[in-house]
Amino acid sequence: MIDFAYRTSNDYLEAKEKATDNPEAFWNEVAITFDWHKPWVKVLEYDFHKPSVKWFLGGKLNITENCLDRHLKTQPNQTAIIFEPNDLSEAAQRISYKELHSRVCQAANMLKANGAKKGDRICIYMPMVPELAIAVLACARIGAIHSVVFAGFSASALATRINDADCKMLLTADGGYRGNKVTPLKAIADEALTQCASITHCIVLKRTGQNIAWNTIDLWWHEEIEKVTNNCPAEIMDSEDPLFILYTSGSTGTPKGMVHSCGGYMVYTAFSFQNVFQYQKGDVYWCTADIGWITGHSYIIYGPLAVGATTLMFEGVPSYPDYDRFWEVCAKHKVNQFYTAPTAIRALQKHPSELVSKHDLSSLKVLGSVGEPINEEAWHWYDEHVGKKKCPIVDTWWQTETGGILITSLAGVTPQKPTYATLPMPGVQVVLLDNEGNEIEAEAEGILAIKHPWPSIARTIWGNHERYKNVYFSAYPGYYFPGDGALRDAQGNYRITGRVDDVVIVSGHNLGTAPIENALNEHESVVESAVVGFPHDVKGNALYAFVITNDIIDDEEALVDALRAIVAKTIGPIAKPDCIQVVSGLPKTRSGKIMRRILRKIAADQLDNMGDISTLLNPEIVEEIIKNKP
Ligand code: WTA
Repeated sequence: MIDFAYRTSNDYLEAKEKATDNPEAFWNEVAITFDWHKPWVKVLEYDFHKPSVKWFLGGKLNITENCLDRHLKTQPNQTAIIFEPNDLSEAAQRISYKELHSRVCQAANMLKANGAKKGDRICIYMPMVPELAIAVLACARIGAIHSVVFAGFSASALATRINDADCKMLLTADGGYRGNKVTPLKAIADEALTQCASITHCIVLKRTGQNIAWNTIDLWWHEEIEKVTNNCPAEIMDSEDPLFILYTSGSTGTPKGMVHSCGGYMVYTAFSFQNVFQYQKGDVYWCTADIGWITGHSYIIYGPLAVGATTLMFEGVPSYPDYDRFWEVCAKHKVNQFYTAPTAIRALQKHPSELVSKHDLSSLKVLGSVGEPINEEAWHWYDEHVGKKKCPIVDTWWQTETGGILITSLAGVTPQKPTYATLPMPGVQVVLLDNEGNEIEAEAEGILAIKHPWPSIARTIWGNHERYKNVYFSAYPGYYFPGDGALRDAQGNYRITGRVDDVVIVSGHNLGTAPIENALNEHESVVESAVVGFPHDVKGNALYAFVITNDIIDDEEALVDALRAIVAKTIGPIAKPDCIQVVSGLPKTRSGKIMRRILRKIAADQLDNMGDISTLLNPEIVEEIIKNKP
């Protein structure tokens, strides 16, 4: 196992000082602990104005050699992946490093045998089974760029992502189990592929055994894998070659394909995993995220495997067969580090605490939280009932774009503070800005920004570098702008206050409001719509849609159902608004811009503090909307 964790707060402070004074020397020292085919000639080259960031220039490596091959020498029989299936009746699996290496190499040969090569984009639309992790690593093995699409997305969302990256191959499954539902993944993929001319091969894993349609480009995974050996030398990649694309929602327009590179991403995910969770040899670590999101990429697959950890993959949901499944799995596999999302904690907290206390959670050492701000109540429930007040909680702030955790405490090493992500990681230079872009000092509230690159920052948006510049580097020149607001206490701890743009985080999923509005506008009766977020006690935020129709609607209920169905079909069920209100107009400025600030207040029932509405083009509409609120 590779270990570069700071075990004391002194070590941490020293590292932090070094990383700030001389980032290049600092990251050089971390990076040399990995296996490289050729060392880099320069640690860092960057210009946030261009923007351009490159780490470990000229270095040659393959990330899978670091995640697999190098552990074969020291711990071939150590469990790499524990797989806990959806159904209790199906046995859990333990896959050793040796076996994982062999299966990844074989899958890599399967991809090659079907024409895949370095630089090709391969879309992966699969359930949370070991073959998903194997597919990801197999792509990395041959230098193909993986683009994993969350298996809860709709056919049209899948098609948009396949087309944006011009993917050549699709890896999917017949279906997937999630709780008491079976998702017809192949049927959804078939529908998507009617719009995707670039896909020449579709490899299908048999998971559920359900009936599926079969097309000329389809191949069974189990048949293809039989035709190849498990000997597959790794493709030698440049440190800056793309490793993967992962889509995230933006305020406007199509999803953004964030591109991560091989070298920097590997170094930072491994380094942060080890330090944040204080993983020790033999520990069992479980991150409950789906591999379809960045948390799964960085902290189920790459970070843990790069240091030689045992990582648990769970196929199901926290509520199946009952609301104690998480705790049952923790007890069953003696989980030591448990990393989940506030939305899951809030949902579980609503159920009797016996569901937690009846399981032996004494193996737990560290708890983690990710994806959205964790509220005080959820934090204390997590601490008391799950951690029994003896497990440090790491509240980890980061993004798809940042590749790895940037603001967090290190478990048991640096102080925690409920609802605060606390301190930046060594080498991460966080600042607060005012609206004019001036840095503000000491205790303050402002816009979060970062003034120096870290190794796992996304390098671009696939096919649209201009958009990358506009979204992240233009609002506050010279800084990386993540789109979040934050406040800082006197000790320098950061508390993330939420998004400052039109992205709403629903149950930990980033949703842009613009694509949802576009979906609603597709309905023949809808003229215009506006979607905003409002607080929800389990999901964190829920969506509220205001729609203007072109005619009097007789059956409003039917319209609402139809609109929710359109959103589910265009984006996915997670984007369905909780509330849809038909209105005769929307509050607008004189230049015709929708005043979302006012709609947010109406949706949240914060009616006593509406601010000045007299400057609106149509102030009377505000009262009407409030009066008719369902
Ligand atoms: C939010 C998930 C508060 C934030 C890893 C960010 C958080 C967005 C936290 C990125 C946290 C994530 N506290 N807010 N600990 N972690 N966020 O790309 O608004 O799915 O910008 O990455 O989630 O979401 P993404």
